[in-house]
Parts: sequence; structure tokens; C-alpha cells
Amino acid sequence: MKPNYPSKVFLNGDILDAQDARISVFDRGFIFGDGIYEVMAQIGGRFFYGPAHMDRLRNCLKKIGIAMDVDQLEARIPDLLEASGLTDQDCMLYIQVSRGVAPRQHAYPRDILPTAMMYAWKKTLPEINKTPAAVVTQQDYRWSRCDIKMTSLLGNVMANEYAMQQGCYETVFVRNGIITEASHCNIFFVREGIVFTHPANEFILDGITRQVVLECCGNLGIPVRLEGIAASDIGQLDEAFLTGTSTQVMAIREIDGHLMYRDQAGPVTQKLQQAFLELKTSTT
Ligand code: PDD
Repeated sequence: MKPNYPSKVFLNGDILDAQDARISVFDRGFIFGDGIYEVMAQIGGRFFYGPAHMDRLRNCLKKIGIAMDVDQLEARIPDLLEASGLTDQDCMLYIQVSRGVAPRQHAYPRDILPTAMMYAWKKTLPEINKTPAAVVTQQDYRWSRCDIKMTSLLGNVMANEYAMQQGCYETVFVRNGIITEASHCNIFFVREGIVFTHPANEFILDGITRQVVLECCGNLGIPVRLEGIAASDIGQLDEAFLTGTSTQVMAIREIDGHLMYRDQAGPVTQKLQQAFLELKTSTT
């Protein structure tokens, strides 16, 4: 089957047929993975927590010293969606900003323009993600700035491949005995009615979906502890679930081949899935 690429690409101010979009082989995004990206979902004609995604893009660019006017980029999203035939359609948007083109040297070159690229593709996310996930664990061998949503994703790519090879959806990372996050999702646990997730520090990406779920916990009066769970305690917990832009809220059924939790989402996970759905429909 022919791969289904998006038809249009926004590249440095132009909206082009995807096959005509060209970047230099000397682009630092290609050479070093020196760039930041975002992924967000348009649901019911609006980007779900779009401003939060754009703020994270702005903050991450700032963290790595790329000067890019994100407002200007954002202003072109409607043009891209229109060219792609996706105005008001349920779709996903990928945004990437790399440092730009320069002869290869590690330190940031001065006075170069960033390369900005975006594309969208049609996708309707399920109202509720009802497929419970099997996950595996692995040492968190990534660096200590996982708060930066950078395009150099080799650690995450290798980890997800490890999961796929075992027929699993995700690899859950363990750093110094503590569960941090998964290769492209955040992870939550439930014990005796309390929701646990790793604090938003340099060992995880502070997912927008994670923030939305924490907001749902607040609205529902579900107590939350921002604490990492020890990998050795996994068996003592009542529920576990993953969160992410396309994963939404996904129950975990199995960890490292052990059926840890029930075959369907547990009661707290279900409540949060319902609250998440309501938020999606009310904010759109
Ligand atoms: N992944 N942790 C990691 C390492 C991630 O890559 C992601 C997102 C998340 C969840 O973040 P959010 O809820 O904002 O999507 C957590 C994106 C979607 C991806 O790489 O495709």
C-alpha cells in the first residue's frame, strides 16, 4: 500500500505541495536533531488546548535559544488547513522548528534563520480510547532534559520499537527505580482512590493531556499526588493509564507480560476518561 503522506506542507512561510517541499541537508534539524516539535489535535473545529500546545512550543524554543515568532506561525495554521482541505475537520497538526541551516559545528551559530515546517492530516480520535494497553518497562537511558520536546527522539524511538517487538503499545521508563513516563505518553497510577503521576520536572515531558487529566481530577475531587511510583510497587497499585495527544486516556492492562490490572479500564480511569470526553466536547 502506498504510504499516505499529507498533501500540503507549510515551509518557511510558503504552503507547498508536499513533494515540492525541500530543506537543506545542512539543516541542523537533520544533522543534530536540533529542533522542537509539537503535535496537537483539532476536534470539532478547534485545537484541543491549542494555546497550551503553542505555549509549550514557545517555552521549549526559548529553552534551546531558537528565536522564532510562534504567533506568526500560528497565524498561518488556518491557511495550511484550508490548503489541506481540513478546515474545521478533525485532524492532527505537526509543527517543527529547527535551528536552521549552517556548516556543521556544535555550538549555536549566530544570525541564522530557523526552519519552520507544519503539516496536517485527517484523523478522528475515538471519543474514548477503549483499548487497554500492554506495556513493557525499560531503564530510562535518555538524557536529563526530557522536559524539552525536541526532535532528537532516538531514545524514545528505540524504546517504542522495543515495545512493538513484544507486541506492546508502549515502553515505560524507569529511572533510579522510579517510573517516569513512557516513550510517547505520560503515565498515571491509582492506589486507594489516589491518582499518582511523576512531577513535571526534567525527567518527563509535561504533557498537555497530563495537565488536562490533572484538571479533571481537580474538577472531580479526586486526590492527586505528584510523586513517581517505584517500579517495585507496580503490583500493589489498583489501576494504571497512559495519556497523550493521540493516545488520550488509555488504561494499562498488562506490564512486562503480567496481567496487572483488569481487562478494562478501572473505575477511576473510567471516570477520568468520561471527564476528558466532556472537556473535549465542551471546549470545542
Ligand atoms: N508525544 N511524554 C513524551 C515523551 C511524549 O513524546 C509525549 C507526546 C507525551 C504526552 O504529551 P501530550 O499529552 O502533550 O501529547 C509525554 C507526542 C504526541 C508525539 O511524539 O507524537
